[in-house]
Amino acid sequence: METIVAQRMETIPLLTPYKMGKFDLPHRIAMAPMTRCRSYGNVPQPHAVLYYSQRATNGGLLITEATGVSDTAQGYPETPGVWTKEQVEAWRPIVDAVHAKGAVLFCQLWHGGRVSHNGYQPNGQDPISSSDKQIPMEALPEGNEVYSRPRRLSTEEIPEIVDWFRAAARNAIEAGFDGVEIHGANGYLVEQFLKDSCNDRIDEYGGSIANRCRFASEVVEAVADEIGADRVGIRLSPFLDFMDCWDSEPEALALHVVEELNKHGILYCHMLEPRMEMVEGKLKIPHKLLPMRKAFKGTFIVAGGYDREEGNKVVDEDYADLVAYARHFLANPDLPKRFELDAALNKYDRNTFYTQDPVVGYTDYPSLEDSS
Ligand SMILES: Cc1cc2nc3c(=O)[nH]c(=O)nc-3n(C[C@H](O)[C@H](O)[C@H](O)COP(=O)(O)O)c2cc1C
Repeated sequence: METIVAQRMETIPLLTPYKMGKFDLPHRIAMAPMTRCRSYGNVPQPHAVLYYSQRATNGGLLITEATGVSDTAQGYPETPGVWTKEQVEAWRPIVDAVHAKGAVLFCQLWHGGRVSHNGYQPNGQDPISSSDKQIPMEALPEGNEVYSRPRRLSTEEIPEIVDWFRAAARNAIEAGFDGVEIHGANGYLVEQFLKDSCNDRIDEYGGSIANRCRFASEVVEAVADEIGADRVGIRLSPFLDFMDCWDSEPEALALHVVEELNKHGILYCHMLEPRMEMVEGKLKIPHKLLPMRKAFKGTFIVAGGYDREEGNKVVDEDYADLVAYARHFLANPDLPKRFELDAALNKYDRNTFYTQDPVVGYTDYPSLEDSS
Protein backbone atom coordinates (compact mmCIF):
# COMPACT_ATOMS: atom_id res chain seq x y z
CA MET A 1 0.00 0.00 0.00
CA GLU A 2 2.76 2.38 1.01
CA THR A 3 4.61 1.68 -2.23
CA ILE A 4 1.50 2.41 -4.28
CA VAL A 5 0.99 5.71 -2.50
CA ALA A 6 4.68 6.55 -2.89
CA GLN A 7 4.53 5.81 -6.63
CA ARG A 8 1.44 7.95 -7.07
CA MET A 9 3.01 10.88 -5.25
CA GLU A 10 6.18 10.73 -7.31
CA THR A 11 6.34 13.66 -9.72
CA ILE A 12 7.16 12.67 -13.26
CA PRO A 13 9.71 14.91 -15.06
CA LEU A 14 7.07 16.21 -17.50
CA LEU A 15 5.07 17.55 -14.59
CA THR A 16 7.85 19.53 -12.95
CA PRO A 17 7.72 23.33 -13.13
CA TYR A 18 9.88 25.33 -15.51
CA LYS A 19 10.53 29.04 -15.82
CA MET A 20 10.51 30.09 -19.48
CA GLY A 21 11.63 33.71 -19.40
CA LYS A 22 8.91 35.57 -17.57
CA PHE A 23 6.46 32.65 -17.81
CA ASP A 24 6.16 30.31 -14.84
CA LEU A 25 5.07 27.04 -16.38
CA PRO A 26 3.87 24.40 -13.91
CA HIS A 27 4.65 21.54 -16.34
CA ARG A 28 6.69 20.75 -19.46
CA ILE A 29 3.89 19.63 -21.80
CA ALA A 30 3.28 22.12 -24.60
CA MET A 31 0.62 21.93 -27.27
CA ALA A 32 2.34 21.91 -30.68
CA PRO A 33 1.02 24.06 -33.54
CA MET A 34 -1.66 22.31 -35.60
CA THR A 35 -3.41 23.57 -38.70
CA ARG A 36 -7.08 22.64 -38.43
CA CYS A 37 -8.60 24.33 -41.51
CA ARG A 38 -11.65 25.66 -39.69
CA SER A 39 -11.04 29.42 -39.95
CA TYR A 40 -13.53 30.30 -42.67
CA GLY A 41 -12.37 33.07 -44.97
CA ASN A 42 -9.04 33.15 -43.05
CA VAL A 43 -10.85 34.53 -39.98
CA PRO A 44 -10.62 32.63 -36.66
CA GLN A 45 -14.09 31.39 -35.66
CA PRO A 46 -16.01 31.17 -32.36
CA HIS A 47 -15.61 27.35 -32.31
CA ALA A 48 -11.87 27.86 -31.78
CA VAL A 49 -12.69 29.37 -28.36
CA LEU A 50 -13.82 25.95 -27.15
CA TYR A 51 -11.06 24.04 -28.97
CA TYR A 52 -8.19 26.01 -27.47
CA SER A 53 -9.71 26.47 -24.02
CA GLN A 54 -10.39 22.71 -23.77
CA ARG A 55 -6.63 22.24 -24.11
CA ALA A 56 -5.60 25.03 -21.74
CA THR A 57 -4.24 24.26 -18.27
CA ASN A 58 -3.23 26.74 -15.61
CA GLY A 59 0.19 28.00 -16.75
CA GLY A 60 0.54 25.51 -19.64
CA LEU A 61 1.99 26.62 -22.99
CA LEU A 62 -0.16 26.36 -26.12
CA ILE A 63 0.98 27.30 -29.62
CA THR A 64 -1.66 28.09 -32.22
CA GLU A 65 -2.04 26.62 -35.67
CA ALA A 66 0.03 28.23 -38.44
CA THR A 67 -1.39 31.73 -38.90
CA GLY A 68 -0.84 33.71 -42.10
CA VAL A 69 1.12 36.95 -42.08
CA SER A 70 -0.31 38.18 -45.38
CA ASP A 71 -2.96 37.42 -48.00
CA THR A 72 -0.26 35.55 -49.94
CA ALA A 73 0.57 33.17 -47.06
CA GLN A 74 -2.01 30.39 -47.51
CA GLY A 75 -1.66 26.95 -49.05
CA TYR A 76 -4.43 25.04 -47.29
CA PRO A 77 -8.18 25.67 -47.03
CA GLU A 78 -9.59 27.94 -44.32
CA THR A 79 -6.42 28.73 -42.39
CA PRO A 80 -6.42 31.75 -40.08
CA GLY A 81 -4.49 34.95 -40.51
CA VAL A 82 -3.37 37.84 -38.37
CA TRP A 83 -2.81 40.52 -40.97
CA THR A 84 -6.21 42.30 -40.84
CA LYS A 85 -8.07 44.12 -38.08
CA GLU A 86 -10.98 41.70 -38.44
CA GLN A 87 -8.66 38.74 -37.79
CA VAL A 88 -7.13 40.47 -34.76
CA GLU A 89 -10.60 41.08 -33.32
CA ALA A 90 -11.58 37.47 -34.01
CA TRP A 91 -8.52 36.11 -32.19
CA ARG A 92 -9.24 38.18 -29.09
CA PRO A 93 -12.06 36.03 -27.56
CA ILE A 94 -9.98 32.91 -28.21
CA VAL A 95 -6.95 34.37 -26.43
CA ASP A 96 -9.18 35.64 -23.60
CA ALA A 97 -10.73 32.20 -23.06
CA VAL A 98 -7.30 30.56 -22.91
CA HIS A 99 -6.08 33.22 -20.49
CA ALA A 100 -9.17 32.73 -18.34
CA LYS A 101 -7.88 29.21 -17.73
CA GLY A 102 -4.45 30.59 -16.86
CA ALA A 103 -2.59 29.23 -19.91
CA VAL A 104 0.08 30.94 -22.02
CA LEU A 105 -0.72 31.29 -25.73
CA PHE A 106 1.76 31.90 -28.55
CA CYS A 107 0.67 32.57 -32.13
CA GLN A 108 2.56 30.71 -34.85
CA LEU A 109 3.38 33.20 -37.63
CA TRP A 110 3.46 31.55 -41.01
CA HIS A 111 4.03 32.12 -44.69
CA GLY A 112 3.64 29.05 -46.90
CA GLY A 113 5.73 30.40 -49.78
CA ARG A 114 5.65 27.87 -52.63
CA VAL A 115 3.41 25.49 -50.64
CA SER A 116 0.46 27.13 -52.38
CA HIS A 117 -1.21 27.52 -55.73
CA ASN A 118 -2.73 30.32 -57.73
CA GLY A 119 -6.19 29.54 -56.32
CA TYR A 120 -5.08 30.63 -52.83
CA GLN A 121 -3.40 33.80 -54.05
CA PRO A 122 -4.83 37.30 -54.45
CA ASN A 123 -5.77 37.88 -58.09
CA GLY A 124 -4.62 34.35 -58.91
CA GLN A 125 -0.99 35.45 -58.87
CA ASP A 126 1.89 33.00 -58.50
CA PRO A 127 2.95 32.04 -54.97
CA ILE A 128 6.25 33.55 -53.85
CA SER A 129 9.40 31.73 -52.77
CA SER A 130 13.17 31.87 -52.52
CA SER A 131 13.22 30.11 -55.86
CA ASP A 132 11.11 29.44 -58.94
CA LYS A 133 11.39 25.68 -58.41
CA GLN A 134 8.00 23.99 -58.15
CA ILE A 135 7.46 21.22 -55.59
CA PRO A 136 7.61 17.99 -57.63
CA MET A 137 4.39 15.94 -57.56
CA GLU A 138 6.18 12.91 -56.12
CA ALA A 139 7.34 14.94 -53.11
CA LEU A 140 3.79 15.86 -52.08
CA PRO A 141 1.93 13.94 -49.36
CA GLU A 142 -0.55 11.45 -50.81
CA GLY A 143 -3.76 13.12 -52.00
CA ASN A 144 -2.30 16.63 -51.63
CA GLU A 145 -3.23 19.38 -54.05
CA VAL A 146 -0.61 20.15 -56.70
CA TYR A 147 1.18 23.43 -55.99
CA SER A 148 1.98 26.03 -58.62
CA ARG A 149 5.36 27.01 -59.89
CA PRO A 150 6.36 29.89 -57.60
CA ARG A 151 7.79 33.29 -58.46
CA ARG A 152 11.27 33.92 -57.14
CA LEU A 153 11.34 37.00 -54.91
CA SER A 154 13.72 39.71 -56.04
CA THR A 155 16.33 40.92 -53.55
CA GLU A 156 14.58 44.29 -53.36
CA GLU A 157 11.26 42.72 -52.35
CA ILE A 158 12.60 40.88 -49.31
CA PRO A 159 12.38 43.75 -46.78
CA GLU A 160 8.63 43.95 -47.48
CA ILE A 161 8.18 40.25 -46.67
CA VAL A 162 10.18 40.68 -43.45
CA ASP A 163 7.89 43.56 -42.62
CA TRP A 164 4.81 41.33 -42.95
CA PHE A 165 6.17 39.18 -40.13
CA ARG A 166 6.92 42.28 -38.04
CA ALA A 167 3.41 43.69 -38.54
CA ALA A 168 1.78 40.32 -37.86
CA ALA A 169 3.73 40.04 -34.59
CA ARG A 170 2.47 43.47 -33.56
CA ASN A 171 -1.09 42.40 -34.43
CA ALA A 172 -0.73 39.18 -32.42
CA ILE A 173 0.27 41.18 -29.36
CA GLU A 174 -2.70 43.49 -29.95
CA ALA A 175 -4.96 40.44 -30.02
CA GLY A 176 -3.62 39.57 -26.57
CA PHE A 177 -1.19 36.74 -27.38
CA ASP A 178 1.68 36.27 -24.94
CA GLY A 179 4.15 35.93 -27.78
CA VAL A 180 4.74 34.56 -31.26
CA GLU A 181 6.47 31.56 -32.77
CA ILE A 182 8.03 32.18 -36.17
CA HIS A 183 7.35 29.19 -38.41
CA GLY A 184 10.78 28.32 -39.76
CA ALA A 185 10.00 24.61 -40.27
CA ASN A 186 8.22 22.08 -42.50
CA GLY A 187 9.12 23.40 -45.93
CA TYR A 188 7.39 26.79 -45.74
CA LEU A 189 8.80 30.16 -46.79
CA VAL A 190 11.43 30.67 -44.08
CA GLU A 191 12.72 27.14 -44.62
CA GLN A 192 12.66 27.61 -48.39
CA PHE A 193 15.38 30.18 -47.80
CA LEU A 194 17.26 28.08 -45.26
CA LYS A 195 17.71 24.83 -47.15
CA ASP A 196 19.84 24.14 -50.20
CA SER A 197 17.36 21.79 -51.91
CA CYS A 198 15.16 24.80 -52.47
CA ASN A 199 17.32 27.92 -52.22
CA ASP A 200 19.19 28.32 -55.52
CA ARG A 201 19.66 32.07 -55.24
CA ILE A 202 22.84 33.84 -56.26
CA ASP A 203 22.28 37.05 -54.25
CA GLU A 204 23.14 37.61 -50.57
CA TYR A 205 20.18 35.41 -49.55
CA GLY A 206 21.55 32.27 -51.24
CA GLY A 207 24.67 30.16 -51.52
CA SER A 208 26.56 29.82 -48.22
CA ILE A 209 24.83 28.72 -45.02
CA ALA A 210 25.26 32.24 -43.64
CA ASN A 211 23.53 33.70 -46.70
CA ARG A 212 20.69 31.19 -46.59
CA CYS A 213 20.12 32.05 -42.91
CA ARG A 214 19.91 35.77 -43.66
CA PHE A 215 16.17 35.88 -44.32
CA ALA A 216 15.33 33.94 -41.12
CA SER A 217 17.65 36.14 -39.14
CA GLU A 218 16.10 39.32 -40.53
CA VAL A 219 12.62 38.06 -39.68
CA VAL A 220 13.69 37.19 -36.13
CA GLU A 221 15.37 40.57 -35.69
CA ALA A 222 12.37 42.51 -37.00
CA VAL A 223 9.91 40.59 -34.83
CA ALA A 224 12.12 40.80 -31.73
CA ASP A 225 12.59 44.56 -32.24
CA GLU A 226 8.85 44.98 -32.59
CA ILE A 227 7.55 43.01 -29.60
CA GLY A 228 10.65 42.17 -27.52
CA ALA A 229 12.89 39.11 -27.83
CA ASP A 230 11.40 37.76 -24.58
CA ARG A 231 8.15 37.10 -26.45
CA VAL A 232 9.65 35.43 -29.54
CA GLY A 233 10.18 31.77 -30.35
CA ILE A 234 10.99 29.97 -33.59
CA ARG A 235 10.25 26.51 -34.93
CA LEU A 236 12.85 24.67 -37.04
CA SER A 237 13.02 21.25 -38.70
CA PRO A 238 16.59 20.89 -39.98
CA PHE A 239 16.38 17.11 -40.51
CA LEU A 240 13.03 16.89 -42.31
CA ASP A 241 12.36 16.91 -46.05
CA PHE A 242 8.68 17.87 -45.98
CA MET A 243 7.54 19.55 -49.22
CA ASP A 244 10.87 18.71 -50.85
CA CYS A 245 12.74 21.05 -48.53
CA TRP A 246 15.91 19.37 -47.22
CA ASP A 247 19.50 20.31 -46.61
CA SER A 248 22.77 18.61 -47.47
CA GLU A 249 24.27 19.60 -44.09
CA PRO A 250 21.35 19.78 -41.66
CA GLU A 251 23.35 19.94 -38.45
CA ALA A 252 25.73 22.65 -39.65
CA LEU A 253 22.73 24.63 -40.88
CA ALA A 254 20.87 24.23 -37.60
CA LEU A 255 23.90 25.21 -35.54
CA HIS A 256 24.35 28.33 -37.61
CA VAL A 257 20.70 29.32 -37.15
CA VAL A 258 21.00 28.73 -33.41
CA GLU A 259 24.06 30.99 -33.23
CA GLU A 260 22.05 33.68 -35.03
CA LEU A 261 19.16 33.22 -32.59
CA ASN A 262 21.55 33.63 -29.67
CA LYS A 263 22.58 37.03 -31.06
CA HIS A 264 18.96 38.14 -30.90
CA GLY A 265 18.39 36.58 -27.45
CA ILE A 266 14.99 35.15 -28.27
CA LEU A 267 12.91 33.22 -25.75
CA TYR A 268 12.77 29.76 -27.25
CA CYS A 269 13.85 27.45 -30.02
CA HIS A 270 11.39 24.70 -30.90
CA MET A 271 13.00 21.95 -32.93
CA LEU A 272 11.59 18.91 -34.69
CA GLU A 273 13.27 15.54 -34.49
CA PRO A 274 14.05 13.62 -37.66
CA ARG A 275 11.28 11.31 -38.86
CA MET A 276 10.77 8.23 -36.65
CA GLU A 277 12.64 5.07 -37.63
CA MET A 278 11.76 1.40 -37.27
CA VAL A 279 14.19 -0.24 -34.84
CA GLU A 280 13.64 -3.90 -33.87
CA GLY A 281 10.00 -3.69 -34.92
CA LYS A 282 9.31 -0.48 -32.93
CA LEU A 283 9.10 3.10 -34.15
CA LYS A 284 11.84 5.12 -32.45
CA ILE A 285 12.75 8.80 -32.39
CA PRO A 286 16.29 9.26 -33.73
CA HIS A 287 17.31 11.88 -31.16
CA LYS A 288 19.62 14.24 -33.03
CA LEU A 289 19.03 17.59 -31.42
CA LEU A 290 21.56 17.57 -28.58
CA PRO A 291 24.20 19.78 -30.28
CA MET A 292 21.58 22.47 -30.92
CA ARG A 293 20.12 22.08 -27.44
CA LYS A 294 23.60 22.66 -26.01
CA ALA A 295 24.32 25.62 -28.28
CA PHE A 296 21.04 27.49 -27.78
CA LYS A 297 20.97 29.88 -24.83
CA GLY A 298 17.20 30.05 -24.29
CA THR A 299 14.44 27.51 -23.72
CA PHE A 300 14.68 24.44 -25.94
CA ILE A 301 11.46 22.69 -26.98
CA VAL A 302 11.48 19.37 -28.82
CA ALA A 303 8.70 17.71 -30.83
CA GLY A 304 8.04 14.86 -33.21
CA GLY A 305 6.77 11.43 -32.21
CA TYR A 306 6.86 11.91 -28.45
CA ASP A 307 4.76 9.97 -25.98
CA ARG A 308 4.67 10.10 -22.18
CA GLU A 309 7.66 7.84 -21.68
CA GLU A 310 9.92 9.54 -24.22
CA GLY A 311 8.90 12.96 -22.95
CA ASN A 312 9.78 12.07 -19.37
CA LYS A 313 13.08 10.66 -20.52
CA VAL A 314 14.24 13.73 -22.43
CA VAL A 315 13.25 16.14 -19.67
CA ASP A 316 14.95 13.95 -17.10
CA GLU A 317 18.14 13.82 -19.18
CA ASP A 318 18.04 17.58 -19.76
CA TYR A 319 17.90 17.00 -23.53
CA ALA A 320 14.95 19.42 -23.60
CA ASP A 321 13.21 21.92 -21.37
CA LEU A 322 9.74 21.34 -22.80
CA VAL A 323 8.14 18.72 -25.03
CA ALA A 324 5.49 19.72 -27.57
CA TYR A 325 2.78 17.22 -28.47
CA ALA A 326 0.62 17.50 -31.57
CA ARG A 327 -1.50 14.47 -32.42
CA HIS A 328 -1.89 13.32 -28.80
CA PHE A 329 -3.00 16.82 -27.78
CA LEU A 330 -5.39 17.00 -30.69
CA ALA A 331 -7.16 13.84 -29.51
CA ASN A 332 -6.73 14.40 -25.76
CA PRO A 333 -7.81 17.85 -24.64
CA ASP A 334 -6.71 16.98 -21.08
CA LEU A 335 -3.33 15.51 -22.06
CA PRO A 336 -1.39 16.82 -19.02
CA LYS A 337 -3.98 15.26 -16.69
CA ARG A 338 -3.77 11.95 -18.55
CA PHE A 339 0.01 11.97 -18.31
CA GLU A 340 -0.23 12.74 -14.61
CA LEU A 341 -2.53 9.75 -14.05
CA ASP A 342 -0.85 7.60 -16.69
CA ALA A 343 -4.34 7.19 -18.12
CA ALA A 344 -5.13 5.68 -21.52
CA LEU A 345 -5.16 8.09 -24.48
CA ASN A 346 -7.93 8.67 -27.02
CA LYS A 347 -6.83 7.70 -30.52
CA TYR A 348 -6.62 10.46 -33.10
CA ASP A 349 -8.62 10.24 -36.30
CA ARG A 350 -6.56 11.36 -39.28
CA ASN A 351 -9.68 11.67 -41.44
CA THR A 352 -10.80 14.74 -39.52
CA PHE A 353 -7.44 16.49 -39.04
CA TYR A 354 -8.10 18.99 -41.82
CA THR A 355 -11.86 18.87 -42.39
CA GLN A 356 -13.94 22.00 -41.93
CA ASP A 357 -16.53 20.80 -39.43
CA PRO A 358 -16.67 23.08 -36.38
CA VAL A 359 -17.25 20.16 -33.99
CA VAL A 360 -16.45 16.73 -35.42
CA GLY A 361 -12.81 15.77 -34.90
CA TYR A 362 -12.27 19.19 -33.35
CA THR A 363 -14.05 19.78 -30.04
CA ASP A 364 -15.69 16.37 -29.62
CA TYR A 365 -12.72 14.38 -28.29
CA PRO A 366 -13.71 13.47 -24.71
CA SER A 367 -11.75 14.40 -21.61
CA LEU A 368 -11.46 11.90 -18.75
CA GLU A 369 -14.21 13.77 -16.97
CA ASP A 370 -16.54 13.45 -19.97
CA SER A 371 -15.82 9.72 -20.20
CA SER A 372 -16.58 9.08 -16.56
C1 LIG B 1 -3.30 18.03 -37.90
C2 LIG B 1 -1.89 18.55 -37.87
C3 LIG B 1 -1.63 19.87 -38.22
C4 LIG B 1 -0.33 20.38 -38.13
N1 LIG B 1 -0.13 21.71 -38.40
C5 LIG B 1 1.07 22.27 -38.10
C6 LIG B 1 1.23 23.67 -38.13
O1 LIG B 1 0.28 24.43 -38.38
N2 LIG B 1 2.45 24.16 -37.84
C7 LIG B 1 3.52 23.36 -37.54
O2 LIG B 1 4.62 23.86 -37.28
N3 LIG B 1 3.38 22.02 -37.49
C8 LIG B 1 2.19 21.47 -37.73
N4 LIG B 1 2.01 20.11 -37.59
C9 LIG B 1 3.14 19.29 -37.13
C10 LIG B 1 3.04 19.08 -35.63
O3 LIG B 1 3.15 20.29 -34.91
C11 LIG B 1 4.12 18.11 -35.11
O4 LIG B 1 5.39 18.63 -35.38
C12 LIG B 1 4.00 16.73 -35.73
O5 LIG B 1 2.66 16.28 -35.76
C13 LIG B 1 4.81 15.69 -34.93
O6 LIG B 1 4.44 15.73 -33.57
P1 LIG B 1 3.50 14.59 -32.90
O7 LIG B 1 4.24 13.29 -33.09
O8 LIG B 1 3.42 14.99 -31.45
O9 LIG B 1 2.19 14.59 -33.59
C14 LIG B 1 0.74 19.56 -37.72
C15 LIG B 1 0.47 18.21 -37.41
C16 LIG B 1 -0.82 17.72 -37.45
C17 LIG B 1 -1.07 16.28 -37.07
